[in-house]
Amino acid sequence: MTDSTTTPAHAQVFRPGLLDGQVALVTGGGTGIGLGISELLAELGAHVVIASRKPEHLEAALASITARGYKASVVQLDVRDPERVKQVITDVAETHGRIDLLVNNAAGNFYAPSATLSPNAWKAVVEIDLYGTFYCSQAVYPIMAKQGGGRIVSTSMTLHYRGWPLMAHATAAKAGVDALTKTLAVEWAPQRIRVNAIAPGPIPTEGVRKAFTPPADSGVPDLFAAAEERMAEYARKGIPLGRWGSPRDVANMVAFLASPAGDWITGGIFVVDGGEWLAKAQP
Ligand code: HXC
Repeated sequence: MTDSTTTPAHAQVFRPGLLDGQVALVTGGGTGIGLGISELLAELGAHVVIASRKPEHLEAALASITARGYKASVVQLDVRDPERVKQVITDVAETHGRIDLLVNNAAGNFYAPSATLSPNAWKAVVEIDLYGTFYCSQAVYPIMAKQGGGRIVSTSMTLHYRGWPLMAHATAAKAGVDALTKTLAVEWAPQRIRVNAIAPGPIPTEGVRKAFTPPADSGVPDLFAAAEERMAEYARKGIPLGRWGSPRDVANMVAFLASPAGDWITGGIFVVDGGEWLAKAQP
């Protein structure tokens, strides 16, 4: 057994064609972790429908996946709009005949002090992260129930396990996503809908870098400020497995849960973080 210091290629783990015939919908699938998930699902044979609010993200993601010969399509969607969510999900099911996997990955985030967070700023994040997850899950329910089952995987986080200054909106919303995951898992098990979540650790995507730039006078350290050297030091000291994560690390867990290996798994929240949050919990 070798010790991986870089993300292992999926080819070492998942067989080609593993997800042949599956239809997956990935919200927030145009960039960052969502794009990593979309790419791996497509590489394994699924037709991936990528949903994003931003057309420019959709075009780039579609081009990068289809140029490699994999199956994907795109749809513009703001997960905060329940009517539009229902319409898009109904359309996807009509076009493809089914939806096997929903990945609730769309998220909004920014550092902001709780004392002065505006109602609209609070609402924007909670509506994207929590309400959006519920709206999409509710909209796929009748489709998955009718076809005899399906899988839902939501992106959570680890910051709410302890509390994280300047992130009240996102931590509260993701705690809600965890609760929703467990409740839906139990409620929808009779319909054979497996509902799980993944809690990624530090993965330096552009969205995370933006979200984790603290306000100048907050006293919160900016992990990304001094770039490479500081990040390498953080990986050495703060992440037990010694490296930052990548979108592929999270995608691997999604692929496992979407595969037949995930058949008896529901209601789980899987931490994929190189051991980071546990290590931080040590005195
Ligand atoms: C304070 C802010 C703000 C900021 C927006 N607002 N950005 N307040 N600091 N940096 C406030 C606005 O002033 C406004 O309130 C309200 O939030 C809504 O802002 P809009 O720009 O109108 O909203 P919208 O266009 O809907 O944008 C949603 C968003 C935005 C969440 C605010 O940041 C966004 O869309 N982000 C998407 C990308 C993203 O964040 N990805 C992060 C993924 S990383 P007022 O009162 O002025 O009207 C991630 C990592 C998790 O999730 C951590 C893992 C370890």
